[in-house]
Amino acid sequence: MSSATGSLRTIYETGLRNQHAVENQAIELLERQVGRLENYPEMASRMREHITESKEQASRLEELLAALDTSHSTVKDTMMSIVGNLAALMHAPAPDEVIKNTFANYAFEHFEIAAYKSLLTLAELTGDTRADRLLHQSLLEEEAMAQWIDRHIAQTTRTFVALSEAGETAGR
Ligand SMILES: [Fe+2]
Repeated sequence: MSSATGSLRTIYETGLRNQHAVENQAIELLERQVGRLENYPEMASRMREHITESKEQASRLEELLAALDTSHSTVKDTMMSIVGNLAALMHAPAPDEVIKNTFANYAFEHFEIAAYKSLLTLAELTGDTRADRLLHQSLLEEEAMAQWIDRHIAQTTRTFVALSEAGETAGR
C-alpha cells in the first residue's frame, strides 16, 4: 500500500466515523423534537420514520467500517465540533421552536446530503465497491427527508400561526 493509498483510506475511514457520529446526533435531535409535536402529527410521523432510517444509516456505516478491517473496528463516536455546532441550531422549548427547528432540520439534512456525496466519492477512489449501494441508499433517504421538510415549510408556518392565534403551542 502506497502512502497515498494509506492517506486516502484514512480520509475515507475518518469520513465514515464522522458521519456515524452525525447520525447518532440526528437520532438524538429528532427524538428530542418528536415528543413535542402533538399538534403537528404529520411531522411527528415523518420524523419517527427518519429516526428509523437514521438508525439503519448508522448500521450501514458500521458495516462499512467493519469491512475496512482497521485496527479499531469498534465504532466509537468522538466528540466533533461540527456536531456540536449542528446541535446548537436546535432550539429549546420556545413558542416558535417548531419554526426554528424546521430551519435547523433542513440545514442538518443538507449537511448529511453533502457528507454522503463526499463519502460516495471517497468510496469510489478507495475502490470500496460495495459501499456504493449502501451510501447511495442513505443519500436518497436524506434527500427525501430534505424534500419533505421543504414541501412542508409553508404548511408548518400556517399551522403555527393558526395555533398561536388560538393560543396553543406545538403541544406537549
Ligand atoms: Fe441521516
